Amino acid sequence: MKRLLSILALLLPVLAGAQSLTINHISDTHTMVKVSGKDRYVMLPVQENAPEARVKVLSNGNEVLGANVCLAIDKTDYLVPLDLGQWGGSSIILDIKMNQGRSLRRDPSDDVCWSEMTTVPVPDLTNSEKKYRPIYHFSPEWGWMNDPNGMVYKDGEWHLFYQFNPYGSFWGNMHWGHAVSKDLVNWENLGIAIAPDALGAIFSGSAVVDKDNTAGFGKDALIAMYTSDGDNQTQSIAYSLDNGRTFTKYAGNPVIMAADTPDFRDPKIFWHEESRQWKVILAAGQEVQLYSSDNLKDWTYDSSFGLSYGNHNGVWECPDLVRLPFEGKEKWVLILNINPGGPFGGSATQYFVGSYDGKVFKCDDLPTVTRWMDYGKDHYATVTWSNAPEGRTVAIAWMSNWQYANSVPTRQFRSSNSVPRDLSLVKKGKEVILKSTPSKEVEALRGNPVQFGLSTAPVELFDNARKAYELVIRFTLSKKDGATFVLSNESGEQVVLSYDAAVQTFSMDRRGSGNVKFSKSFAAVTTAPTRVGGKMELRLLVDSASIEAFGEDFSMTNLVFPSSPYNTIKMYGNTKADVTLYPLSK
Ligand code: FRU
Repeated sequence: MKRLLSILALLLPVLAGAQSLTINHISDTHTMVKVSGKDRYVMLPVQENAPEARVKVLSNGNEVLGANVCLAIDKTDYLVPLDLGQWGGSSIILDIKMNQGRSLRRDPSDDVCWSEMTTVPVPDLTNSEKKYRPIYHFSPEWGWMNDPNGMVYKDGEWHLFYQFNPYGSFWGNMHWGHAVSKDLVNWENLGIAIAPDALGAIFSGSAVVDKDNTAGFGKDALIAMYTSDGDNQTQSIAYSLDNGRTFTKYAGNPVIMAADTPDFRDPKIFWHEESRQWKVILAAGQEVQLYSSDNLKDWTYDSSFGLSYGNHNGVWECPDLVRLPFEGKEKWVLILNINPGGPFGGSATQYFVGSYDGKVFKCDDLPTVTRWMDYGKDHYATVTWSNAPEGRTVAIAWMSNWQYANSVPTRQFRSSNSVPRDLSLVKKGKEVILKSTPSKEVEALRGNPVQFGLSTAPVELFDNARKAYELVIRFTLSKKDGATFVLSNESGEQVVLSYDAAVQTFSMDRRGSGNVKFSKSFAAVTTAPTRVGGKMELRLLVDSASIEAFGEDFSMTNLVFPSSPYNTIKMYGNTKADVTLYPLSK
């Protein structure tokens, strides 16, 4: 029997496709892996705390990709697929430099990555992340995701590209990943869209539909502009004639390379009807810059905005400039993400309301005014869809914070996005504020509603553990009374949501919400200014690892990592609340 098992063990690697990898250790730190056979994917074993190895992919002798991969040394945390299809199935060599510091000297063949590296025809991407994989928020099938990129609506499809590391669930090797949806909530993940090249990694950017073929790539070409993060940051374009399934990079890249600043990135293109021109807004150090173009290739600098305006306690990133109707006219809103410098530490999104004449943005506020778009800790890199139907302005945020994004307690993937939100301008006293409302498509996820009244007695929400639901809480407060709602689970983990009449705020306390230990910056109370008193409505969107709160004049987006779903709600306060509870599912 023992013998049979050992024969089987010998055969297994063959069955698993290992026969197509020939591993040659050239020195202690240099290994070449020849890949042959028909399998399309090499599965790379990753150990998250291993030092990064440099993996060069050579196709017919040319380097076609360089990636940093934490190849497993003594245990494999997970496998990531390297898709050889990108290089047309030609003969491939992986030229790998392992990192062997003095304290890490070892026989190269001892590293487990060599015995556990395999080839497969199709990678198994079954969700292994049972606990915190969101039910209705977008997350990548595997690997790391940060900013949403290149969002554009075309031919009935909402495109969502995203900052993607396919070779580990942490930031690095930036590609654009791609997903499409017909309804903004059910997403089909299409994997890698744009891969790094000699100009650099593919950082954030945007995409537009070139309806009039201004660039000459073809009518209705989908054209993306992204930052090439090389020795300097420059802006490049790529076009797709098959609705984003494949991209061709423009041979004349980069198309903008003006600024002598290390942070010169995140171009957001938009069409300006009055001047019949393309415009781009991008971050340049502590300001944003605006450019114009007739053809998306040749760009002229127009103006800068931002020095001394708003918050500058961090790097300005991912700007957007949108026009929104307001009282029969329109205003322009400049959305600007900043990291760090957020009101509760780390990343956050600020905005400026004003006017734009096709060249210059002017802010309505004094420079000293700072406005935040969301008052949670996990709302970043927010930008809007281009070409959205029905004149809508739909935004989505990366639901994390650079303070701890790389260490949140998930493995197969890291990070998800907020729900899509429709933006509008509303009046709050004398101010005009930017309001985010969950897009109507999110309501399609609602199951049968359950109504109940809430006073101080705790109410169990579901018989069975349910991770995804929505609560709409309606109540009335006198001018001097606050109210507190507590969501909790059977382990006593809780999120405390409070309206404070004295200071007119809403806050969310996640200090006891579950696992908060993975980063000292995670446990926090976030607070939004709001009107407290009279008729109130609070909408809570709860998913496996997040709570998004929407009030009359604020939104607040926070991650949570409870050991089991919150299944009880109770209330403190001199009022009674009417609650509508909707299970949410796709
Ligand atoms: C924002 C950001 C962008 C940059 C990208 C890189 O989160 O830093 O400025 O383009 O991430 O992944």
